[in-house]
Amino acid sequence: MTRALVFDSGVGGLTIAAELRKAAPDWIVDYAADSGFFPYGVKTDEELRERLPQLCATLVDVAKPDVLVIACNTASTLSLDDIRARVSVPVVGTVPAIKPAAEQTKTGVIGILATPGTVRRAYLDDLERQFASGKTVIRRGTAGLVDMAERAVRGQEIDQEQVAYAVRPMFDPPDGPRIDIVVLACTHFPLIRDAIAAACPPGVRLIDTGEAVARQAIRVAPKTPRPAGDPVAYVTGGAANKAAMTPAFARFGYHAIEIIDV
Ligand code: DGL
Repeated sequence: MTRALVFDSGVGGLTIAAELRKAAPDWIVDYAADSGFFPYGVKTDEELRERLPQLCATLVDVAKPDVLVIACNTASTLSLDDIRARVSVPVVGTVPAIKPAAEQTKTGVIGILATPGTVRRAYLDDLERQFASGKTVIRRGTAGLVDMAERAVRGQEIDQEQVAYAVRPMFDPPDGPRIDIVVLACTHFPLIRDAIAAACPPGVRLIDTGEAVARQAIRVAPKTPRPAGDPVAYVTGGAANKAAMTPAFARFGYHAIEIIDV
């Protein structure tokens, strides 16, 4: 029995945890939400660089996974190497699905919907150079959709007008109307996929990285014999955050919740 730890700033990584549980039903998939430091998308690079490696090292010490999945584009595109240097287990990151989008676009124009942090990353420039040369890539950074996804997964209504307000500017540049694929480059966004799809012009396809990340975790995880057990969700930020996160965790099958102080 393999034990994985899936980590995100909030509820977004639950979309990756769900994919991993689907692909590896016999695994124990623990979860960690850094709710005490959420949201990552508007933090400076320095703030995240300072926090992420130490936090991940602490989480690995506590949860003792066989594999750590950074289910967050904002964190992965900045700190994957620093995190790998600090922990002793394989680390799988989540990065924008530019390669499949570039392969599948028919118009040659793709949209990247991400946090403000992810859209300004040099990592994204590299992905574009490597996999999307000759294509037009239009980036749109939004923190509003992250908040909406957090609220939606706790059962609150989302306002379609606000979703449209966040998404539509991606289609404003001269090549915008030719976008045929939008990459959901934030793990929160699949939680409100239908609302995002409704805010895009008809015929636009949305793609994310959930399945690919799950496949990669299965590929790299060492086969360690372990006793069976129930999955645990860890949360930072104390009792108030634990209470706020409980409905979302329960929806995704996490009933044992532990507070981590970092
Ligand atoms: N879920 C995270 C991502 O994939 C970011 C959300 C946040 O801003 O904290 O980028």
